Amino acid sequence: MNSRLFDSKLPLSGISVFARMTELANRYSAVNLAQGFPDFSPPVQLFDYLNEGVQKGFNQYAPMPGLLQLREEISNRLKNTYQHDSDPETEITVTAGATQAIYTIVSSIIRHGDKAILFEPAYDSYAPSIIANGGIPVYLRLNEPSFDIPWDELEATLAKEKIKLIIINNPHNPCGTILSKDNVNRLYTMAEQYNCILIWDEVYDLLVYDNNTHHSGLEHELMLKRGIVVYSMGKTLHNTGWKIGYVIANSYITSEIRKLHQFTVFSVNTPAQYASAMFLKNHFDFFKKLSEFYQTKRDFFVKNLTKCGLEILPASGSYFILARYNFDKSISDESFAQRLAQYCQVACIPISAFYHDRYDSRIVRFCFAKKEETLQIACERLNNSIDKIQISK
Ligand SMILES: Cc1ncc(COP(=O)(O)O)c(C=O)c1O
Repeated sequence: MNSRLFDSKLPLSGISVFARMTELANRYSAVNLAQGFPDFSPPVQLFDYLNEGVQKGFNQYAPMPGLLQLREEISNRLKNTYQHDSDPETEITVTAGATQAIYTIVSSIIRHGDKAILFEPAYDSYAPSIIANGGIPVYLRLNEPSFDIPWDELEATLAKEKIKLIIINNPHNPCGTILSKDNVNRLYTMAEQYNCILIWDEVYDLLVYDNNTHHSGLEHELMLKRGIVVYSMGKTLHNTGWKIGYVIANSYITSEIRKLHQFTVFSVNTPAQYASAMFLKNHFDFFKKLSEFYQTKRDFFVKNLTKCGLEILPASGSYFILARYNFDKSISDESFAQRLAQYCQVACIPISAFYHDRYDSRIVRFCFAKKEETLQIACERLNNSIDKIQISK
């Protein structure tokens, strides 16, 4: 008997498009440019530090907010990168990746009926975090084709509805866009005027290209009043599977986040925290070279997609790039992505997956965090076989 003893908290959530596209990639032996993870190894020193941590006895529960030496190194890195002073004792919390950080932050703030603004296309964990906590997502679509913030609509929404929280992703997944300093200031000004909290999801903060600068939510004077900033080690150390993230917030917000953190994960993998701390301490230069490292990949991918007829949209940050197909508007982006996997053996993500109403502007997302040879194969397949998609109609 399959009786339902309770109603689903997330009735509209099913298997994610990332899992579906990965399944298709496997079925058709496609190159997987769908899911956002590197197909190359993390720096080897990280493995040595992991081993060292295990040998040195870092094998039991870490302190609930994170190993102090990791929080100290995070504090140093934020000081170094953003001239931001954060107290490792009271303002930094290590989490099991950014996803857990976001869920825990949202849980600590959102109560039944509270509203939170999301800009779409939006990373897929934001809305479920709000809904599972009884909140109401208020969706605003980023302007196309620039994917910048719809300022008038934002102002009108804030004036009309009581908004508790705004979630901002910068650099942006899936769009690859970045915010200007003026944008960051404007968001804080609005948050101050309408008394909102800002969550800054900055997991791609070190992946910014063409001599652009990442303007962090940490850099504003109102940060310690109403900003919460989230990072992920996985995106910078090429080790998404280690699931180490961290949150910066004032001491009150931090203590509220920690109250929930201690009863959900309690603490995060100790040897992995040790290794991350040692790497941050001894290899800071590695992070300075990341932008160049990824920009080379982005440029390689774009340069080699010579004949596929896709319109590649500009990407200034993150390790994603969007491509619009203009040759057949009758194919939905989801169907296009399925055919790309089947006929070209390249997997991507349709960006309708990042809209709650599956808004479809005939755009797909590729992840270029891949070895050059992987990107080369993907480009050859796209260049040589994309016309099969039309024939397959
Ligand atoms: C915008 C954004 N936020 C958060 C995350 C989650 O990061 P983590 O793997 O550390 O949970 C991702 C991962 O893809 C992401 O793209």
